[in-house]
This record gives sequence, structure tokens and C-alpha cells, in this order.
Amino acid sequence: MEGIKTIKDIDVAGKRVLVRVDFNVPFDAKGKVSDDTRIEGALPTIRDLLGRGAKVILLSHLGRPKGKPNPKYSLRPVSAALAEKLDQPVLFLEENHGPDVEKAVAAMNDGTVALLENVRFHPGEEANDAELAAAFARLGEGYVNDAFGTAHRAHASTEGVARHVAVKAAGYLLEKELKFLGEQTDKPTHPFVVILGGAKVSDKINVINRLLEKADAILIGGAMAYTFQLAQGRNIGNSLAEPDKADVALAALKKAEERGVKFLLPVDNLITDKLDFANGAIGDTRMANSEEGIPDGWEGVDIGPATMELFKREIATARTVLWNGPMGIFEIKSCAGGTFSIAEAVAGNRDCVSIIGGGDSVKALKQSGHADKVTFISTGGGASLEFLEGKTLPGVAALRGD
Ligand code: 3PG
Repeated sequence: MEGIKTIKDIDVAGKRVLVRVDFNVPFDAKGKVSDDTRIEGALPTIRDLLGRGAKVILLSHLGRPKGKPNPKYSLRPVSAALAEKLDQPVLFLEENHGPDVEKAVAAMNDGTVALLENVRFHPGEEANDAELAAAFARLGEGYVNDAFGTAHRAHASTEGVARHVAVKAAGYLLEKELKFLGEQTDKPTHPFVVILGGAKVSDKINVINRLLEKADAILIGGAMAYTFQLAQGRNIGNSLAEPDKADVALAALKKAEERGVKFLLPVDNLITDKLDFANGAIGDTRMANSEEGIPDGWEGVDIGPATMELFKREIATARTVLWNGPMGIFEIKSCAGGTFSIAEAVAGNRDCVSIIGGGDSVKALKQSGHADKVTFISTGGGASLEFLEGKTLPGVAALRGD
């Protein structure tokens, strides 16, 4: 946060404040917001600005409409969800820049809020077009970025706009994300235990490499573990893996050994002879320990009980925990045990700073009923991974004026 103002540092009373939020939220079959984590995440900033008499103008994207208006990606339903949470009306505007929008926001009263239509309805957003960025900037007398989830994108409403405003600041959510995913993982209280899961080693290898320099233990679950086991010459049957990443997996194992970092892979797995993910169905299941390996025709779908115990014991010793990615196909109930046991173990360690990131682990944590027992839940998917890799996020750098 060095060199970045926060909203506490700027004068907002009676001013139009343009706030980039990340309201890229999922919807259920009835078109209602099905996970409001990101809306909730933006509330402290919005409430603070409203309380201080600002006119709050919210910009966001939703989905990937490819630079064209598309009703499927309209933010209108989000404005209804937001109004309910704020307990006050939210003015929804069907455009996000231009003379009509300028007129509408100029007429706003102090302490009111407007949400503008999806910024990705214009090709200039993702192209980081300078004219569009300047048009966004004209809407406010100050700019606040609270969209951590999109801070890894150099787009007109996240990066370009910041270059056209005199007053710019980070919102509370952005500040919190940088604190927990940044400071707390950079200078963690030890022991620092990192739990990584999910499908691909390739998605997380840079995170693994950076965290090998900070962590005391790294626990690997999910399908990415099979790539490590394949690289070690174990039989993984038909399990999902990336054989072309065997060399990077071995390099990470070597680095862990050299640095004295415990690198724990599953010692047993729940395996099945048939998986129909689309219909949530599996065939016969049994446990396989990693010595025996996974026979051909079978695939791993979760970590086994011995691994759960091993991981739980490690988590119980931690003073800082970072968890990103599920341990198995937790969407199927019979394969959710490993992921839920991690959620329980992380939530059960009340002496540690626990940071959870990645859509799937956050979803699993919520489903397990433990979401209120962890220190911080990140709203970032790709943004949190890039940040954990040590990359500079363009949306953050622009606030600094780098
Ligand atoms: C996300 O959901 O990770 C962010 O909102 C960014 O969305 P994007 O990957 O479509 O840029």
C-alpha cells in the first residue's frame, strides 16, 4: 500500500466519487445473485462514502460479453441485490459513460448511489482505450478502486481511468486484500502452512515457487497432486494430470528439499472406476494408498483419510494458513470429504491467521458452514493467484501513479 491513498485520506463530502467494484457475481437459474461475496466485500467502502455524504457512482464488469451489449450480462439484477443490502435505492443507468450519464450523475444528491451498466459492453474497456478511460474519469471528482478481483486486468475502468483523475484511492476491500494476500504471506507469522489444490499444476506453479520461499509446509491436494505423483514415477491410473509439467513438478520438489520446506503429497486417495462429472455421478469407489498407486481404469477423486489426518495435523501447528483450491471433486457429495476436512481444520485453528482464496475453496468453505471462522476470504480468483506469484497488479500500480 506504500504510496497509495486510501479512502480515509480523501475528501468526499458532497463529491461525486467514481468507484470501480467487482460485481462479477454468479446467478442462479431464476436470475438471482447466487453468491454475494463480492457485493458484501464492497459494502464497507460504499457505506463509508455514503455516510460521508458522497455521491457514489459504481462501475463494474459482469462476465465476458466481448465488447458488445448483451442483456444476459446486464448489471441490473445486481443493482436490486445491492439496494436490498444497503437498504436504500440504487439508481441503475443503462449506459456507463457519455453526456446522458454525465447529466444523470450531476443530478445526484449527496448520500445516494448509482450503478452503471457493464463496462465490458464497450470494446474500449478491455482495450484500455484512453478516450473511454477519460470518459469514465469525467463522471467523478475522485476515483476509488475497490475491485481487487479485476486488479490484474489493465482495462479502462481499472487502470486507464486512474491516469485521468487528480484524486485516486484504494477502497477498503482492496486495502484488505493487499494486506492479507500481500503482507501476511510475504512476512507471515510462522509456521506458515500453504494448502494448494485444484486441477492444474500449471495454474499454480508460480505461486508454489514463490511460496516455497516463505512457507514452512506446502500441502498439495486435488488433481494437481497426480502430476507430482506421476513425476515421481507412481501409477496414477486414469487420473487427471499434466504429464508435460512433470519437470516443473520435480523442480518444485527439489527446491522444497533444498529449502527444508515440508512438501506433503497425498498418501492415499479415494478412487473410482467411473466418473460422470456433468451428471454428478461416480461408479464404484475405494481407497488406494500412494505406494500401491492408482490402477489403470481408475481415477482419483479426493484425498483419503490418512491424508486428511496428515494435513489436519500440519494445519493445527500453523500460525498462518493460506488455502487455495479444493482437495477433490467436492461438487459430488461422496468426493467432498477431503475438501470439507480441510475447511474444518483451517476453521478449527483459532490461533492462526487464515486466508482463503479461489472461488472453489471459498464455495466449499461456505458449504461446510465454517466461513465465519476464518480470518479473511479473498474475492479474487485470477487476481489473487497473480498477486501471490508476486506480480504487480496494474489496477494497483495505477493508484500509485507508477
Ligand atoms: C474474476 O471473476 O476473476 C474477475 O472478475 C475477473 O474476470 P475476468 O477473468 O473475466 O477478467
